Parts: sequence; structure tokens; C-alpha cells
Amino acid sequence: MNLTVALTGASGAIFGRELLLVLEADSRVSRVHFVASENSLRVLAQELGVSGRTDLLDKLLGAPPTKTIQHADANIGASIASGSHPSNGMIVLPCSMGTLAAIANGLANSLIARAADVTLKERRPLILCVRETPFNRIHLRNMTLAAEAGAVIFPVIPAFYNRPTDSTEMARQFVYRVLAHIGLPQNGAYIWKPEE
Ligand SMILES: Cc1cc2nc3c(=O)[nH]c(=O)nc-3n(C[C@H](O)[C@H](O)[C@H](O)COP(=O)(O)O)c2cc1C
Repeated sequence: MNLTVALTGASGAIFGRELLLVLEADSRVSRVHFVASENSLRVLAQELGVSGRTDLLDKLLGAPPTKTIQHADANIGASIASGSHPSNGMIVLPCSMGTLAAIANGLANSLIARAADVTLKERRPLILCVRETPFNRIHLRNMTLAAEAGAVIFPVIPAFYNRPTDSTEMARQFVYRVLAHIGLPQNGAYIWKPEE
């Protein structure tokens, strides 16, 4: 699989980091195209203590990436900006209301918004892990618009019935659900089996 992952400036950077770590470790995935919005950097510094764009992937993964490559959000000429680029889908985690608005209204004014626009036009999976609380009517309308265009609205709402003991485990189980949705079920994913 060849996937695109975008991190934007919503709260929940730990979820994005877990996604990148799991994809790096998954042998079914050959390439991950990674884009961090300018505003995600502010949240990464706040929530994970990761600062600066330089060597961002190394800092997030704790080691040099083996298959993940980073593109600047301003680089609308990157490979993932074209429908000719072979891709199996795109995940935005976390997805801010601003990025949701750009995608839902087809602005295509950044690499993240353009890659999402291309994913929709090519009828490929686009998973928007939106995060905000509470939602205003604009957020709700934009979620409907994006869903009607083919995106999956997959809010950052983790489960508790698996009794996670820390935020990393909570984020990882959430990421497992996202990946199962895109056809990459993970060993270690919690599966509800009430009859056992
Ligand atoms: C610490 C922090 C947390 C934020 N949390 C959210 C959030 O959960 N959801 C959201 O939509 N915006 C959130 N924002 C605001 C966005 O970062 C802001 O709207 C930004 O313009 C989004 O830009 P982007 O979509 O290009 O990343 C947060 C900002 C900061 C600094």
C-alpha cells in the first residue's frame, strides 16, 4: 500500500504520531507520504514537546524513517497533488475544522487540501479524523459536505471498553480502528467478544 498521512493543527498529535509509527512497522505498506500543516507544528510542540520542522519525522518516530517521506504543505507540486500518483488513500489525523472546511469546499489551496481533493476525485478512501468540541453548525455542515463527496468522517473519539491504561494505548487502539477501515487490520487490535 501507498498511503498519504496528514497532521493538522487540531488537538490529538499523539494520534498522528501513533499512526506514523504503526505504518512504519507494517510490511504491507511500502510508502507513506507525510504532510504536516504549518499550524500542526504549534500543536506538536504543545502536546508532544516536538519542536521545529527540521528532522520532524525522526523526532516523531524516534528513528530515521524507512518508508515515510515528508512533503511541505506549501509544495502543491508534490507527487500526491496529482491523480496520476498511485495511492491507496489518505488519512488526516488529527483533522482541524479549518482543514475540514478547506477539503469540504474544494479549496485545494495547500498540499493537504489538494491531496484530499485528488483523493476524492479519484474515488479513493479519504478518512478525516476530525477533532473539535463542541461542533458549531459550520463544522457539522462541512462534515456533511465532505461525507457526501465520499470522505469518511472518523472523529477522534477513542473507545473506553478496552480499558486503555494510558493515552498512548488509547491512541494506538484508535489508529488500529482507522487502519482496519482502510483495509489494514492490525494484530493487537481490541475486538469486542462479549460471549467469551
Ligand atoms: C494547542 C492547540 C489546540 C488546538 N486544537 C484544535 C482542535 O482540537 N480542533 C480544531 O479544529 N482546531 C484546533 N486548534 C486551532 C487550529 O490549530 C487552527 O484553527 C489552525 O488554523 C488550523 O490550521 P490547519 O488546519 O492548517 O492545521 C488548536 C490550536 C492550538 C494551538
